[in-house]
Amino acid sequence: MTLSRRRAIAAGWLAIIGFTQRTVRSATEAEQTGFLDLNDTVAFPMDTLNDRWDLVKFDAELSTGKGDKRLQGVLLKTGVDVAGCGDLRALCTICPHEVCAVEFVEDSNGFRNVSDVVTGQPLFVCPCHFSVFDPMADGAVIGGPAHRGLYAFAFELSDNEIRITGIEAGVLDLLS
Ligand code: FES
Repeated sequence: MTLSRRRAIAAGWLAIIGFTQRTVRSATEAEQTGFLDLNDTVAFPMDTLNDRWDLVKFDAELSTGKGDKRLQGVLLKTGVDVAGCGDLRALCTICPHEVCAVEFVEDSNGFRNVSDVVTGQPLFVCPCHFSVFDPMADGAVIGGPAHRGLYAFAFELSDNEIRITGIEAGVLDLLS
């Protein structure tokens, strides 16, 4: 076998190994980070949310292996961190109990008769069976039958935009 043919074969094998490593690595990264990439990034200008409890709703699309699914979400500002994104939350508003749409309730005092977990601060409340989620605690469940909190979207700040790029991989359990 000539030297150039041996080099060509070696280059071919290296290309195959490189492709395999990239494929395995991207699958491993998804498992490690716990987030899945959305089909398309959802972007908002940085100045979309200015005051505490400002929010904007959005739809995102996720490829699930059983077709594309639409996810409803909300981006909200829970504090007054003007310098960074520490007070931003991007949460999926599909209830993890039985897939109803949760509602943002700014004045939660009206729910005292249906939930004893009211804290006086804004909450997410599911109208179906009254699971309650705390936006200050990343959407953690604080009452009702839901077994977990709201699924979180991954987001980043880039080019003066808030870019929503992914969703917790566990959301697939909800969509199956
Ligand atoms: S669907 Fe939300 S509490 Fe049951």
